[in-house]
Amino acid sequence: HTLLIRLLCLDFVQGRIVGGYTPSPNSIKYIVSLQSSKGQHFCGGSLVHKYWVLTAAHCNIGPWVSRTPELSAYEGTEQYSKPLSLVPHPQYNSSTTNADIMLIKLSAPIELNRYVSLAPLPKQNAGLLAGRMCRVSGWGSTSHSGGLTPLTLRTVRLPIVSTSKCNSSNSFSGNITTNMICAGSSTGGKDACKGDSGGPLVCDGRVYGLVSWGNGCGDPRFPGVYTAVSRFRRWIDQTIYSPFSRCLKSAGLFSRED
Ligand SMILES: *[C@@H]1O[C@H](CO)[C@@H](O)[C@H](O)[C@H]1NC(C)=O
Ligand SMILES: *[C@@H]1O[C@H](CO)[C@@H](O)[C@H](O)[C@H]1NC(C)=O
Ligand SMILES: *[C@@H]1O[C@H](CO)[C@@H](O)[C@H](O)[C@H]1NC(C)=O
Repeated sequence: HTLLIRLLCLDFVQGRIVGGYTPSPNSIKYIVSLQSSKGQHFCGGSLVHKYWVLTAAHCNIGPWVSRTPELSAYEGTEQYSKPLSLVPHPQYNSSTTNADIMLIKLSAPIELNRYVSLAPLPKQNAGLLAGRMCRVSGWGSTSHSGGLTPLTLRTVRLPIVSTSKCNSSNSFSGNITTNMICAGSSTGGKDACKGDSGGPLVCDGRVYGLVSWGNGCGDPRFPGVYTAVSRFRRWIDQTIYSPFSRCLKSAGLFSRED
């Protein structure tokens, strides 16, 4: 039930979902693990098209080179793919974390089947009311020893926190933009954490948020901050269906055509 995309990049230590549980197998059919060439998980993502993965722009950590044709075989229900190109949002600002969204084009299409499907996205500018329950999922790495380590997907249910509360002086004091949504338990102890970056916050069956930033993990004063995917629905569609993307395909730059 895991779609693994390997990127060659720096390994680093990451946190994991706090206060969550292990979901039943194959329950989230579009979640992606971005991994280094050594098999180290570093970010999450969602499959939004057979050629495209949606993740956070801050997962664009260098140096990455899609140089190894290493793993492209199927292993059980998992599929592996290499990135062809990264498209971070042009307005992404790493100091404010505004517009923290990126599309990754794959070098070969993912086969959609009973274990792998596309993530449903919200309509442009669709909103969510405070208190709406959502769930965020991600992997905690189990070892740093190199090689493909067993990964455990974790999930946690969280309510949406209003922007006014999240942006208040008791919380993120003015650092929340309209391109962000907040979610977290008022009692704390449940949250996404660093290694979950880019992974999906799912509300009403749609990916409304991407794990973006926060202040510690599970602190009740500081909910998790997520990229508001509905603000970027148009950009996502334009990027995926742009003439440039079609051009890449017709130029035969893919190693495998469907
Ligand atoms: C990022 O945001 C900061 C604060 O608003 C601003 O000063 C800076 O110019 C922005 N950087 C880019 C690359 O837009
Ligand atoms: C808000 O942003 C400012 C400027 O980047 C920073 O100094 C401050 O610590 C931030 N506050 C919170 C609560 O994130
Ligand atoms: C958060 O507060 C800052 C400072 O008051 C404000 O500029 C910004 O527009 C607010 N964000 C939202 C989404 O309202």
